[in-house]
Amino acid sequence: MNIFTASSDTIKRASEIIKNGGLVAFPTETVYGLGADGLNPIAVAKIFESKKRPSFNPLILHIAERNNLSKLAHINDERIERLIDKFWPGPLTLVLPKKEVVPDIVTSGNPTVAVRMPNHPVAIELIKKSGTPIAAPSANKFGNLSPTEASHVYISLGEKVDMILDGGKCTVGVESTIIQFSDGNVLLLRPGGLSVEEIENEIGKIKIVTKFSLRPNSPGQLLYHYSPSIPLYFLTKENLEKYSDKKIGALFFKSINTKHDFTSIKILSEKGDMKEAAANLFKHLHDLEKEEIDLILAEPVKEEGLGRAIMDRLKKGTNRFII
Ligand code: TXA
Ligand code: MG
Repeated sequence: MNIFTASSDTIKRASEIIKNGGLVAFPTETVYGLGADGLNPIAVAKIFESKKRPSFNPLILHIAERNNLSKLAHINDERIERLIDKFWPGPLTLVLPKKEVVPDIVTSGNPTVAVRMPNHPVAIELIKKSGTPIAAPSANKFGNLSPTEASHVYISLGEKVDMILDGGKCTVGVESTIIQFSDGNVLLLRPGGLSVEEIENEIGKIKIVTKFSLRPNSPGQLLYHYSPSIPLYFLTKENLEKYSDKKIGALFFKSINTKHDFTSIKILSEKGDMKEAAANLFKHLHDLEKEEIDLILAEPVKEEGLGRAIMDRLKKGTNRFII
């Protein structure tokens, strides 16, 4: 078994693995990451190989100190500093023009690089001890549900990872929000753990990118992703009728009274709290995946605040089964 409780000792061992070009799965506040030395192209190649991730999908570099950003990227807008002051460490990834040191394999040949500073003591200590930015996608096989607990990583990737650092459950539960500064515009490439509203409060209106494709030329915009292994659809009247003879696992946003005979019911947040709902999203989907059901029907939530990230993940999850 390659899962180890995170401690100063195991983090030290993990950092040696990173320095030697190996793979370490580690907790962040959003989801578990599959980390490698971000400046070592051979180590980074192992990430793509173990996840079966297409090489056109670039990676995020994780840093532990703010002044490391300018070593990796050009800070091309004064609003960037304001966002960093306010939201780092935290679930905000910035896509900026890259500097020479960043290997092409990290950015999939793009002239830009994605960087974030995670808000998790284990991640920060690991990056500092490794002495390098850590490239890390979510620690799951490509297209599967993202991991929010160490056991999810093990189920998806098993022994393909040299070490899994267990730091408990991720508190945010959905991936970081990704924004790009381009020609004076701020583009939202992926809604995530930091809401658009919070970003706009700081720097004004941002542009939401809604174009998705199966093989994006501007990456980060895959049409489907985050799918459970059993079909996922939205909970609508039509779907309830259509699948009335099936064993349904229902995923509700908050506590409900239903007369419908579901085989299983999961509730994202009893009291209807969006933060709690986001934190439980992948965990409940992982749990439903293991049950004896034919499909999952998920209740849509309002697309505001973290609801935007929840709906993004659910829509991309359903796309695999409706396209
Ligand atoms: O919360 C997170 O962001 C987690 C944790 C581990 O930090 N990481 C994560 O990584 O979600 P991943 O690889 O699953 O998603 C990264 C996304 C991809 O959609 C990728 O296309 C986009 O970031 N991305 C990376 N570099 C980019 C770039 N230069 N331009 C546009 N999108 C980029
Ligand atoms: Mg991912």
